[in-house]
Amino acid sequence: MEKKTLFSGKSVNIGVDSGYDNYIMAIESSCDETACAVVKNGREVIANIVASQIKTHEKFGGVIPEIAAREHLEAINVVIEEAFEQSGLKAQDITAFAGTVGPGLVGCLLVGLNAAKTLALVHDKAFIGVNHLNAHLCANYIDTDLKPPFMALLISGGHTQIIDVESYSKQTILGETIDDAVGEAYDKVARLIGLPYPGGPKLDKLAQLGNPKAYELPISKVDGYNFSFSGLKTAVLRLVKQLKKENNIADNDELPENIIKDICASFQDCVSRTLAKKVKKALQEKGYNQVVIAGGVAANSEIRKKIFDFEKDGYKVYAPIMKYCTDNASMVASCAYFNTNTYDSADVEVFSRA
Ligand code: KG4
Ligand code: ZN
Repeated sequence: MEKKTLFSGKSVNIGVDSGYDNYIMAIESSCDETACAVVKNGREVIANIVASQIKTHEKFGGVIPEIAAREHLEAINVVIEEAFEQSGLKAQDITAFAGTVGPGLVGCLLVGLNAAKTLALVHDKAFIGVNHLNAHLCANYIDTDLKPPFMALLISGGHTQIIDVESYSKQTILGETIDDAVGEAYDKVARLIGLPYPGGPKLDKLAQLGNPKAYELPISKVDGYNFSFSGLKTAVLRLVKQLKKENNIADNDELPENIIKDICASFQDCVSRTLAKKVKKALQEKGYNQVVIAGGVAANSEIRKKIFDFEKDGYKVYAPIMKYCTDNASMVASCAYFNTNTYDSADVEVFSRA
């Protein structure tokens, strides 16, 4: 696709049809990870640097936007320098600079996006603004030969969507959550049972040690491909209260570890079955034989297992390796290469919601 360099406005061809090797440097700073990566032709990662702020936000039990934005400012130049170093490339060798435009925390997005724009301007290269959700999907192109069409399950801290990906740039949301996102439900339930931030991965670990049939939790009935997870969260809250009462445990004290493991396993079983059922239905309805999972929650062991079980029925299943599931810049670079629905003007504004 033809794009213009930011300073002199020279034409450059970028993307799948460009006819030459593209090296895209991308920056991601939408939440609590400052990341920079260089990816060759959308699939081959040449450098991947991530500075995580988990340690900072741990003590607050969640991401504090203002603190996150300041931390991005401190880390941004370091991750860019390290990505150059790891790639062995110089700015002249880079085809285009990409950055996440949204959705995300506005103050955080501004840091990364302005860095990407500045690099493009200073080195007279094209600038490519990327949607964070599209980028999560593109993590599946890394180190694979995946080509659309396919069905996608996008599950992150802010989103839960089933997406029909017809081509690299044409995708339709078939359904999404009407209340909490899956990652949000994980984090809220984790907090409820006393696990520290970020609760999702910790809940997943404990779930693997518990009995998924220990407690029966409700699978919410929502039409079509939509989801609802707030009822399930409330059911866990009620269960925790009831178990504390039965075991004579004060409200402020924690339940014994074996009970917590069983709650985690039962919750995880309920969530993963709900997701897998609707994805299977969408696949059958569309007649696709490929399915991908993406987003931070795609790192979840049981959701991966249930979707990979589709392989027994002849489907080809893709899921990014763990480091490309959670926020990273390689997926942003891949998206800048494959997806033509980008924001390439220097005037583009960051946005918080999709
Ligand atoms: O995609 P992501 O890194 O950031 C957003 O764009 O939201 O996703 C972060 C979310 C958090 O809610 C985190 O708890 C969840 O992904 N997460 C997990 C796991 N790893 C990360 N949830 C369940 N199981 C996991 N293994
Ligand atoms: Zn994300």
